[in-house]
Amino acid sequence: AAPLRLGIAGLGTVGIGVVKIIQRHADLIAARAGRPVTITAVCARDRAKNRDADLSGYAWETDAVALAQREDVDVFVEVMGGSEGAARASTEAALAAGKDVVTANKALLAHHGQALAEMAEAAGLAIRFEAAVAGGIPVIKALTEGLAGNQMRRVMGVMNGTCNYILTRMETAGLPYEHVFEEARQLGYLEADPNLDVGGIDAGHKLSLLASIAFGTRVSFDAVQLEGIGQISIDDIRHAGDLGFRIKLLGVAQVSGRGLEQRMTPCLVPADSPLGQLQGGTNMVVLEGDSVGQIVLRGPGAGEGPTASAVMGDVIDLARGLRLPTFGRPATSLVEAVPAKVAAP
Ligand code: NAP
Ligand code: HSE
Repeated sequence: AAPLRLGIAGLGTVGIGVVKIIQRHADLIAARAGRPVTITAVCARDRAKNRDADLSGYAWETDAVALAQREDVDVFVEVMGGSEGAARASTEAALAAGKDVVTANKALLAHHGQALAEMAEAAGLAIRFEAAVAGGIPVIKALTEGLAGNQMRRVMGVMNGTCNYILTRMETAGLPYEHVFEEARQLGYLEADPNLDVGGIDAGHKLSLLASIAFGTRVSFDAVQLEGIGQISIDDIRHAGDLGFRIKLLGVAQVSGRGLEQRMTPCLVPADSPLGQLQGGTNMVVLEGDSVGQIVLRGPGAGEGPTASAVMGDVIDLARGLRLPTFGRPATSLVEAVPAKVAAP
């Protein structure tokens, strides 16, 4: 069978992870996909940078839009990041040029997911984004496929590993927020704009995407009630512990008679619950459906291997010809969410 040819825009943590999996597992992927998956071209800003992978067999572009429009690219893999600029322009260009898209970019989809999904579906194309939510955990697949027969009741979870690392480390080492924040920066955990992590924005993006799939609503990131972890003190953590609780940056999305409630805020969770036990940079997503009951998914939410693993799951689905609607149902059928009025915590 003809190979599925990828163009990879972004050669950072995730992009290089994807290159390595394709190089390491070419035979396994071909067997599972029913056809070879190859890379024809790649793109990043700085061609001279040492990237810890052999890229010599691939064409090089410095303009992501040009990569998206190449005739020898079937699937455009967007792993640059950012909700505007090159990420948005190249994703639109790829769809306009008739390419399916795989992305890890939650910011892009939280802000422009509806328009992009409509554009893709009008052209019979797919946008897949497993890597954008909870990294290596296949939560989008669980919601759109395995749980498709359920009326979802609630989606919740810890979806930002950096915040969970900071809160865990404050508790276990008894160190103040500012100290652990600096540690996280030195370990390279923080996004270039750290407020995306500690302000709850990154996790809010992820929650808004899950809520759209779970409840059939248009992505409404602006309606997510957001509060970050910057105000949490070591005393707060100790007092919570004395009462048998831990503080987690917890996302909750549910629909009640009052509308769609989406909040990403620091919450007290019982210390002996699965969420309370979650340590370090790990993520956990809890899905509740009317038939299945409660499912708990736990795993690495970031990093080269886990995130590239999720990208590859999407790529292999496309190689198999699986083109599901972006948010699990046709984008034009998604309803406008009525945001629930939630009292400030
Ligand atoms: P990264 O390490 O910062 O890499 C970004 C790459 O994109 C770099 O290679 C950079 O080029 C390239 N790039 C940026 N702007 C560009 C432009 N205008 N034109 C061409 N290339 C451009 O980022 P990352 O951690 O791999 O993250 C990529 C995406 O995955 C983001 O959307 C992120 O939110 C998402 N994600 C990341 C993780 C994770 O664990 N890292 C997990 C889940 C989702 P240069 O190398 O030349 O600078
Ligand atoms: N900054 C994010 C986190 C990366 O810490 O979870 C993965 O999306």
